[in-house]
Amino acid sequence: MDANTLRRAFTAFFEERGHTSVDSASLIPHHPSAPLFTNSGMMQFVPYFLGEESAPWPRATSIQKCVRLSGKHNDLGELGRTRRHLTFFEMLGNWSFGDYFKEDAIGWAWALLTEHVGFDGDRLWVTVHVDDDEAEAIWHEGVGLPLERIQRLDKENFWEMGPTGPCGPDSEIHFDCGSEWGEEGGPAGGGDDRYIEFWNLVFMSYFRHTDGTLTDLPRHNIDTGGGLERWLMLLQGVPTVFDTDAVRPLIEVAESLSGTTYGADDRSDVALRVVADHARSMAFLVGDGVVPSNEDRGYVVRSVIRRAVTRGQQLGVDRPFLGALVRRTIELLGGAYPELTSGADVVVDTIEREEHRFRQTLATGSALLDVELARGAVAGEVAFKLHDTYGFPIEVTEEMAAERGVAVDRAGFDAAMATQRARGKESRRGGEADLPVEVYRRLAERAGATEFTGREEHETKARVLEVVQAGDGHLEIFLDRTPFYAESGGQVGDTGTITTDTGRAEVLDTTYALPGLHRHVARVVEGEILEGQEAVATIDDERRQAIRRNHTGTHLLHWALRQVLGDHVKQQGSLVGPDYLRFDFSHHGPLTAEELAEVERLANGRILDNEPVRAYQTTMEHARHVARRVMSFDSERQVMHFLREETRKIIPEAF
Ligand code: GLY
Repeated sequence: MDANTLRRAFTAFFEERGHTSVDSASLIPHHPSAPLFTNSGMMQFVPYFLGEESAPWPRATSIQKCVRLSGKHNDLGELGRTRRHLTFFEMLGNWSFGDYFKEDAIGWAWALLTEHVGFDGDRLWVTVHVDDDEAEAIWHEGVGLPLERIQRLDKENFWEMGPTGPCGPDSEIHFDCGSEWGEEGGPAGGGDDRYIEFWNLVFMSYFRHTDGTLTDLPRHNIDTGGGLERWLMLLQGVPTVFDTDAVRPLIEVAESLSGTTYGADDRSDVALRVVADHARSMAFLVGDGVVPSNEDRGYVVRSVIRRAVTRGQQLGVDRPFLGALVRRTIELLGGAYPELTSGADVVVDTIEREEHRFRQTLATGSALLDVELARGAVAGEVAFKLHDTYGFPIEVTEEMAAERGVAVDRAGFDAAMATQRARGKESRRGGEADLPVEVYRRLAERAGATEFTGREEHETKARVLEVVQAGDGHLEIFLDRTPFYAESGGQVGDTGTITTDTGRAEVLDTTYALPGLHRHVARVVEGEILEGQEAVATIDDERRQAIRRNHTGTHLLHWALRQVLGDHVKQQGSLVGPDYLRFDFSHHGPLTAEELAEVERLANGRILDNEPVRAYQTTMEHARHVARRVMSFDSERQVMHFLREETRKIIPEAF
């Protein structure tokens, strides 16, 4: 069973039992009680558990992208050293918002596992909370699980989202991988690698307050969480989550970039696993709008990228390599998470830039660290210098030191940081202005990424989310959805107009304020544009068509250059506007006049012969339309009906 089949089987099972399939939410959670990142599938449903909002459906199912890189749920320490930990993973889940409770949750879990996806029921064990007689009785009397394979634990069977938030007793389902994986004794006393916990059924009943006390939630809920990659590991009978079809292709990219072989050596295996895991974490985090920086989420993603670079260096990779890994990640997971594909260029570009920035100081920083490592101790001020001058996150320094069994003077580092902060505060006396980036970040957290409609339409009804006065007298307008393409990957942004009941603005350029957040740089030409208003956003279509033609031109030029000069010619960059294009490529010398003429002849020949290009574009547009519609349906029946109708349009003779 591969990842796609499992995703489909899980969703279908719960849909057939009255659950609404809900898309994965952003990795940046919204609720005030939520931690820094979405660490489980339940997070987008917190307002329903707390009774702050009424749930639109009594039952739901989802496959949620999750990261466990900070706070209560942080798997970084285990990463690469165990069979089962990842810092990015997909969580399978089903929810009841005051609807069904323990009996159905347990009964369905058992049926799905043993009758639908192929788990051997004789190898399953469960744990329940020490006080939960009811759950034990359902497992034993309802499902028929022998009492010897039901164990009771205390805090291990009480799940909490974070230091505060919804929580409750749970029941965890484990698979016995057999004696070659460790001591017997069940999940409570046996080996961790032998009894693999892979699905947690939480009976969500309480709220944990900041002072530690618990109060009852308005209703009893179900929240389940299953790690997709762990299920795959067990179902595919492979040793680790890194050997499943969800992760292994990334290990392969890392192997080929580094010339190492997975399985040959413990130390390089850990590095290969970290690199593969981190490619997934960074792609999804940046895809959800987290920009590498020195604070909060930005710092976490910066550390992830820099750790991947140092691990790559440990594997002997001394040139930029994250772009290739992230592109492969997007290929693997973009089908299940289309937002990753639509933001692909920005994601890759952001990560490559961060890698580039770090590489400029990596060699000097590493040399400095090596001196300390040889000395047997890393002094606090050296760790600080590595952080401040060479961009080594303290976690990366600590990890590299730990590899060699050397300690870092963390207290000395913290003291140096505190001194620097105090100096910074002093020089900013009078308080810091509200930097625009903070405004963007808050907006991204509040409203998520801008929905891009520009592939289907040139005009879109939207809502004005925020209007920011830019320093140069222009306005920056932010909408919930937009047909305006934002400048990226060397293609200029769209221009056009934004109109509301009270005014009209001319959009002069569109760029990303943060990844995924479209910023319309505009000038008001009539009245005013106000936050909260309905708007009509219209692009200059003729200009867009011209840009598209030039974009196609870069492909033709690339092709012609390779025909004339050879396959080593690689695109290095390009700049595509409505009335010009620039194409950068790698070749060992200047082109002769004859070569240039030949390139021109070939490329022009292709342009004249543009019928296939048009046909190709039409087909791609149609394919995109179909894919988008299919993603929007709730049931397989609707999908089948739609596909039949579409097929009828294209091949009427098939009916
Ligand atoms: N919310 C259930 C889990 O993460 O295990």
